[in-house]
Amino acid sequence: MPELLDFEPQVFPPSADQPTTLTPIQEEVLALKAERKAVLLAHNYQVAAIQQVADYVGDSLGLAYKAAETNAEVILFCGVHFMAETAKIINPDKPVLLPDLEAGCSLSDSCPADRLAAYKNAHPEVYVVAYINCSAGVKALSDVICTSGNAVRIVERVPADRTILFVPDQNLGQWVAGKTGRPMRLWPGSCYAHVLFTVRALEKVKARFPDAPVVAHPECTETVRELADEVCSTELMVKFAQEHPAERIIVVTESGMIHRLRREVPHKTFIAGPTETCACNDCRFMKLNTIEKVRNALRTMQPEVDVPEPVRRAAYEPIRRMLDWSR
Ligand code: 13P
Ligand code: SF4
Repeated sequence: MPELLDFEPQVFPPSADQPTTLTPIQEEVLALKAERKAVLLAHNYQVAAIQQVADYVGDSLGLAYKAAETNAEVILFCGVHFMAETAKIINPDKPVLLPDLEAGCSLSDSCPADRLAAYKNAHPEVYVVAYINCSAGVKALSDVICTSGNAVRIVERVPADRTILFVPDQNLGQWVAGKTGRPMRLWPGSCYAHVLFTVRALEKVKARFPDAPVVAHPECTETVRELADEVCSTELMVKFAQEHPAERIIVVTESGMIHRLRREVPHKTFIAGPTETCACNDCRFMKLNTIEKVRNALRTMQPEVDVPEPVRRAAYEPIRRMLDWSR
């Protein structure tokens, strides 16, 4: 039986993680962005080269608020399809560009709108709380949207006499049910990237860095979440890193997050949460966006995200409710 050797943990020592100069392609992005009067919104999981030229980098909640507040003429959304779609639902009259239209999401795919519609027909009593990681079609069938940053607050606002159906992430739903004490039916979806984190892999890295607290995303499985000192959205991970006295922190989420953390908390060391097969964990959808595709999108004003108007109108209501409820 061949022996599988352990890989070395990925350790990111204190550093601002900022290049002293921008590359020519990054300079071109900044010039095109000004010319097009565009705002560049980037999720925390985007590559460093994109984060460095973004107007705002954040989690799904922060990005939704920025999309709602912007007065830019064009939104260039560096994230995945459902995020750009959300920006379009809020801004029907503005072009919303996504550098790569193939940047989807396994979690969103696990809840097709026609299956949710069939479930609602059979169970008309349910109040649908949809995690923002879903298509416009699913949002249009939902009562309220939430993100990992506000899910607890949103579920607490749902009328107590209603039966909640939480879609599409069973792991986030289970975590929120535990936090709120609110029973709920869970759609059997999950994020392919976050379920790759395992107790065994995490225990190994914890043994190497016993002084380092663990911060994990609620899309992780329950057994992994149980090993964490804090479970929160990507934006709240920045706050956790700033406020926790520890000098080293183990970060159990997609590895783009480490760029953001190093930028915001440059004096600390970050250790990437490992999976069984790799010392870090990239979301293959998030990483489809590259700085070249960002430049090309600004040059050509393509590819653009579109949402049919009846779906957009229906999807807007539960998003607006979320933005109102989480202020
Ligand atoms: P947040 O950044 O909102 O925590 O979401 C993580 C995620 O998986 C987005 O796809
Ligand atoms: Fe979807 Fe998971 Fe990738 Fe987030 S990390 S975009 S939930 S597949």
